Amino acid sequence: EQESIIGGKSFTAVAVNCAAKAGEWIKSKMGSFTQLDTKYSMHDLVTEVDKGAERMIRNLIGTHFPTHSFLGEEGVEPGPDASAKALQEMSDSEYLWIVDPLDGTTNYVHGFPFFSVSIALAHRGQVIVGVVYDPSRDELFVAERGKGAYVHGRKMQVSKESTLSHSLLATGFPADQHVALPANMKGVQALAPKVRNLRIAGSAALHLAYVAAGRLSGFWEYSLNSWDIAAGSLLVEEAGGRLSDITGEPYHIGVRNISASNGLIHDELLKELKAAEAAG
Ligand code: IPD
Ligand code: CA
Ligand code: CA
Ligand code: CA
Repeated sequence: EQESIIGGKSFTAVAVNCAAKAGEWIKSKMGSFTQLDTKYSMHDLVTEVDKGAERMIRNLIGTHFPTHSFLGEEGVEPGPDASAKALQEMSDSEYLWIVDPLDGTTNYVHGFPFFSVSIALAHRGQVIVGVVYDPSRDELFVAERGKGAYVHGRKMQVSKESTLSHSLLATGFPADQHVALPANMKGVQALAPKVRNLRIAGSAALHLAYVAAGRLSGFWEYSLNSWDIAAGSLLVEEAGGRLSDITGEPYHIGVRNISASNGLIHDELLKELKAAEAAG
């Protein structure tokens, strides 16, 4: 099956190639990177591997599609509003690649093998290709709009749990510690007693891929950037799930407070998050 959606010199083939190459390189440098810096805050790390992987992906995409626009995390000024500002500036692009070269840098730095490469292509603002690659497990998640979502050739489907009480959910602790972290703590406090269990594994893109694969029934996080979500959003959609803002607004590439699920628990999840926010 997967052959048909990644065959030839398609956008998807290039995205897959980039993710695989960057992922292999990232994995090969694990434990031997030499530059560790902080960006916006002490919670916001970057290494030369993040930058090198982005350069690799940007060059490869540029060779194949020189007229396309490119938005990558390491090409944008650090800070909570960087993604929104950069997206705004590129909003007229016909084709826009939205790339997180290494999602889960903190895990990478600590040798915790849960990180990914996230590559999306948007056409006039709508994601049409999404690829997330986990080099530690050699798992490649690929979706093309209208053609389904696959993990190594197997079609993915979201989970069938219909209540929060039977659901395994994930969330993340955002780098923005002032607004987003307190908001998320409330969500954690409200949801932890109501779900089967919660995971905070440290890569938003992989959490989304796991929702698509049916390994998680839902995921939410405040204050993410477009490159954390874009590729995973299509995986979830094409696997039959649902995505929205935490207020319920349907997903678009500007959404930063994301809620993604198998669809069945979505309203219940939003209701709990809204109640938690209102509780102050
Ligand atoms: C981070 C990861 C993490 C999430 C943070 C993101 P980065 O991305 O996705 O899971 O909780 O909010 O910033 O910086 O490792 O690419
Ligand atoms: Ca980062
Ligand atoms: Ca990220
Ligand atoms: Ca990153």
